[in-house]
Amino acid sequence: MTKIVKDNNFPTLETERLILRQMTLEDTDFVFQHFSDSAVSRYLMDEPPVTEYAQAQEIIQFYLEPEEGTHNRWLMVRKSDHRSIGTCGFHKWDKRYFRAEIGYDLSPSFWGQGYMIEALRAVIASGVEHMRLNRIDALVYIENDRSIQLLRRLGFKQEGVLRDYFCLDGKFYDHYLFALLQREWKS
Ligand SMILES: CC(C)(COP(=O)(O)OP(=O)(O)OC[C@H]1O[C@@H](n2cnc3c(N)ncnc32)[C@H](O)[C@@H]1OP(=O)(O)O)[C@@H](O)C(=O)NCCC(=O)NCCS
Repeated sequence: MTKIVKDNNFPTLETERLILRQMTLEDTDFVFQHFSDSAVSRYLMDEPPVTEYAQAQEIIQFYLEPEEGTHNRWLMVRKSDHRSIGTCGFHKWDKRYFRAEIGYDLSPSFWGQGYMIEALRAVIASGVEHMRLNRIDALVYIENDRSIQLLRRLGFKQEGVLRDYFCLDGKFYDHYLFALLQREWKS
């Protein structure tokens, strides 16, 4: 039976067009297809692309059993047709310093329609309200123009370049560090 996290820090969220809910093992087909898509995984340098079904199950298990509640990933479901279209969430939550890192990915056929900005507005508002986040970090590969554009639209500020930050297949990749502070956030 699928275990569902009951955690007030990560409630189900609703936006105009989306429901953001916990993933379950019943979502494995979507998670496998989504993370094995090279357009989705291309700039996710901290995780190798998914090639086997078992890896998709491991991703879901990871999010179903968060270590001391330090991470969460919502599944983005479109209200109009109940289709899963992407995921987003927080990780590296450091409660002492009121900060966490944000992550997100949308299936390519849903790019360019404002779904991720809509989801992240709700996710950030929830992080500020329920997790009491003061600072949200975002690490983005320097060539990931769509992601950089999204972060700027949300009010994130670029703070620097993390040189050779991730290593994938023996190659190092620079990343930008972006951050949003609670006092700068206009929901
Ligand atoms: C990063 C990523 C989520 C951005 O997706 P996106 O669809 O461009 O993001 P948004 O939801 O902000 O949509 C913005 C676009 O929708 C358009 N749009 C259409 N309707 C809209 C609406 N109602 N509201 C807002 N924007 C709307 C905007 O004009 C913009 O179009 P543009 O790209 O031509 O400028 C996506 O490219 C992705 O998942 N990439 C792979 C994974 C990845 O790189 N993750 C990030 C790692 S750091």
